Amino acid sequence: MELHEFITDTARGAGEIILSHYGQINTQRAKEGRGDIVTEVDIESESYILSRIKEYFPDHSIVSEEAGKAGTPETGYTWYIDPLDGTRNYALGIPFFCVSIALAKDGIAEYGVIFDPLHNELFYAAKGQGAMMNNRPVRVSGETDLEDSVISISWLRSRTAYSKFASYIERISSNTSYFRRLGSAALISAYVAAGRIDAYMQGAINPWDIAAGTLLVKEAGGIVTDFAGRPIDLRKSYIDILAATPIIHEKIMLKVLEIKN
Ligand code: IPD
Ligand code: CA
Ligand code: CA
Repeated sequence: MELHEFITDTARGAGEIILSHYGQINTQRAKEGRGDIVTEVDIESESYILSRIKEYFPDHSIVSEEAGKAGTPETGYTWYIDPLDGTRNYALGIPFFCVSIALAKDGIAEYGVIFDPLHNELFYAAKGQGAMMNNRPVRVSGETDLEDSVISISWLRSRTAYSKFASYIERISSNTSYFRRLGSAALISAYVAAGRIDAYMQGAINPWDIAAGTLLVKEAGGIVTDFAGRPIDLRKSYIDILAATPIIHEKIMLKVLEIKN
């Protein structure tokens, strides 16, 4: 089976599982700390994705949100899986959540898919081949004005040095009329790739949340870096990310540098 077919079929299969339980979830538990929950749907979706990867690619490593690591993710091909991104939204009936799956080599995603089952929107990218939504090419927006930009900024108190991050939020949110916090890192990145959102910024995110999104945004013509302007290495944990259309990325980086200096 071709990789494109494998990864998109797998995301659609997981999306079906998620959708079949939507509106019925009443069991959820907190993970390591408050602000992070898991439901039985996260687990069911993850088991489905993992069983397919183990069947078709038994030699590949895996980094998956609930099940953790398998193999040696530092070398060779590694799958980064978020079986349900936006769990809190999902459990509350807020229609903004997705499945995110990426295949990376040496910390850089080469294939990625983000599937929003509720709206039947499938975002797909392969390195060097552009980004698509439902088989049609997508591009980041052409926005150049910070004031008119839709910017999504997010953080998790338990993972982020909040006082440092608060100054970024204060500085950037006060320079745009359209500040957002939407609750699904992966789907926000897909929206940046599709030109719906101009920039996404998050402190201390996990690699499975952003693996597919980094590739989608780059393949759609956007820029993806950490807060020092360096490329993202998915082998790290708690990654600071800024993914945006080029001019807005540059303008936000200038604000970040002003704060750092
Ligand atoms: C969370 C979401 C959220 C982000 C958190 C993630 P989950 O993932 O992507 O937008 O701010 O950092 O942990 O728990 O819903 O898969
Ligand atoms: Ca997630
Ligand atoms: Ca998740």
